[in-house]
Amino acid sequence: MIGVAVVGLGEIGQFHLPAVRQHPDANLIAVCDLDIDLAACSAQTGEIASDDLASLLERPDIDVVDICLPHNLHLPVALQALVAGHDVLIEKPMAIGLAGCQEILDAAGTAGKQVAVSHNQLFYQPHVKLIELAASGALGQLQTIRARLGIGGKYGAWRTDPERVGGGLLMDAGAHRIYMLLALGGAVRNVSAVMDNPRAEDRFVVTLEFESGAIGVADGSYHGPDGVFDDRIEVFGQLGLAEVSGCEAFFEGYLPEGARLRRFEDGVWSDLAVFGSWDESVRNSVQAALSAFASGAVPPVDGRAGYETIRVIEAAYEAAQSGSSVEL
Ligand SMILES: NC(=O)c1ccc[n+]([C@@H]2O[C@H](COP(=O)([O-])OP(=O)(O)OC[C@H]3O[C@@H](n4cnc5c(N)ncnc54)[C@H](O)[C@@H]3O)[C@@H](O)[C@H]2O)c1
Repeated sequence: MIGVAVVGLGEIGQFHLPAVRQHPDANLIAVCDLDIDLAACSAQTGEIASDDLASLLERPDIDVVDICLPHNLHLPVALQALVAGHDVLIEKPMAIGLAGCQEILDAAGTAGKQVAVSHNQLFYQPHVKLIELAASGALGQLQTIRARLGIGGKYGAWRTDPERVGGGLLMDAGAHRIYMLLALGGAVRNVSAVMDNPRAEDRFVVTLEFESGAIGVADGSYHGPDGVFDDRIEVFGQLGLAEVSGCEAFFEGYLPEGARLRRFEDGVWSDLAVFGSWDESVRNSVQAALSAFASGAVPPVDGRAGYETIRVIEAAYEAAQSGSSVEL
């Protein structure tokens, strides 16, 4: 049994709590937030509610610190937890900047502890199947992969502050687009990008040239009409096409029906009966990391995967600022 503390009990923290509580090999020991009232009402009987992370880190019954904080706090809190001898699960993005990710990897190596990053959309069943389909060769040689993000209205609070986000939309919800492209397309050779205001962007188009020769495009924009949340993904191969109509789109109420994975093959579109939900993907992502921590295995999305995602995002910022593509 592993003891877990969840730090940051806002929007996503509230989805991590049940995932931890429902894991058969995990005990939720403590919930922590600067807002002690929020901590108190988030804790269930027997769980400690705290606004003092430092004292929680001294507890021998806590093995894992699950970090659901604004991006600028991922690095300092992860380092604090690792140095105190805990494994860490970090919400996306792993940290602001590549140097921060490397510091976390180094600290984990020194402490002999594990790092997992919650790239939850990798655990969304239609995405799991899409990745399997692309990797199986059933779609033939992949030509283009497109991941969209169209949001009707800008996120608020700390997410409007580029210092705390570490950028704009790309570093925030755009991180999901980038790790999905990496999962579908593999290693990246070259990154180019156009943005309205790099590192405080409300709009971006990032183009990836994969080692395989395929091309990936992630595009994102705030400021759509109210109610829009378009996060579809399309894979175009020489033998077939496949697309997932949305993930968070369903959770946000933008798409009315259940999630769909469709495939075009032999001249016709067919629905693959694969369903899932965004909230289930968060639960599966958290629980997969906890299972790895409990068994001593390497987490399925480890610190190296978090690092690779930030490497592409940082290259995109550099490309957008310089106007030249960046070799990885
Ligand atoms: N996977 C997803 O789909 C998804 C969705 C939303 C957010 N996120 C990620 O989750 C993380 C948190 O985002 P959020 O939307 O939940 O933010 P939020 O603002 O809703 O919640 C953050 C919480 O952290 C608390 N906090 C701030 N500083 C603290 C400190 N020093 N110690 C303890 N608590 C502190 C705040 O009081 C707040 O309750 C970010 O990395 C974000 O990108 C992921």
